[in-house]
Amino acid sequence: MKASAPGKIILFGEHAVVYGRPALAVPVAQVHADAEVSDSSRAGIWINAPDIDLHAELNSLPSDHPLAAIIREFFPHPVSSPLCPSPNPSTSLRASFGRGDRGEGVEIKISSTIPVASGLGSGAAVSVALIRALSSFLHNPLSDEQISSMAFEIEKLHHGTPSGIDNTVITYARPVFFVKGQPIEIFKVGKPFTIMIADTGISAPTREAVGDVRKLWEADKEKWEKAFDEIGGIAKEARRRIENGEWELIGKLMNQNHELLKGMTVSSPELDRLVDAARSAGALGAKMSGGGRGGNMIALVNAVKAGIAADACISSGAKRVIITQIH
Ligand code: PMV
Repeated sequence: MKASAPGKIILFGEHAVVYGRPALAVPVAQVHADAEVSDSSRAGIWINAPDIDLHAELNSLPSDHPLAAIIREFFPHPVSSPLCPSPNPSTSLRASFGRGDRGEGVEIKISSTIPVASGLGSGAAVSVALIRALSSFLHNPLSDEQISSMAFEIEKLHHGTPSGIDNTVITYARPVFFVKGQPIEIFKVGKPFTIMIADTGISAPTREAVGDVRKLWEADKEKWEKAFDEIGGIAKEARRRIENGEWELIGKLMNQNHELLKGMTVSSPELDRLVDAARSAGALGAKMSGGGRGGNMIALVNAVKAGIAADACISSGAKRVIITQIH
């Protein structure tokens, strides 16, 4: 049984979203995570994830390993394996799907074209693809809401205090207006527009950037609450513009959002260089995207001139670029 999940970018509102302000995120279909679950003649539950050099039997993985944590939700009573000949049934949040007791082996293949720790949602996409593949394999397909909330639990293992935006946009694979703890709102794109995504090639853990912003906030809550309010206002205006088909006008909002993120110390010289290069090459606006300190930036471009901005970013050090249509 195979399943796939797209990458994502945050258009507006990263970091402030952790503090309850709205953010906009869209799926990026050019990159994706894939999971395949099949029967195997070999006893045990074997995980094969060559991208992260993981070839292991489930019982050999620690309990806080994100992939193992997902798989154990579906196989709370492990099948017997060479590593664990008489398994102790583990407790699980979820009822047993009644398969793991049958004693056959299971082979799980996981792969991803989404660069890790770069703001494209690789962790959440792997979780969503794996949850979908496992639930289909066990003939118990889950709703999007169930998948997203399960992936959110796993995001906590990756990031500590995630807002939930990644698992939401990746599960629904639609543009989302996201406010932490509130029902998901899918928004309409009045007229399609083009975004160029450029990767600094620097992998930067979101957890650290989020932790540093928290320290700033703790030291001066009044100042940072105001900055978060500004970002939230930008995200709301951007949604309105996009829904009205006035996408040309969101370039200025991207530039404003980038300045606020810079002030929050989450940009980096490499990100700023790519942002400047895209703007000089005719982009209507540009900003970092995601946790920051590395990872990707995004630029709003005219579809016909996207290549010029992409070339400028490559000349300024980008390791790869993706041009994607938002619709
Ligand atoms: O680095 P990413 O794309 O996973 O995005 C993190 C977004 C933050 O707002 C910085 C954190 C969060 O959990 O929303």
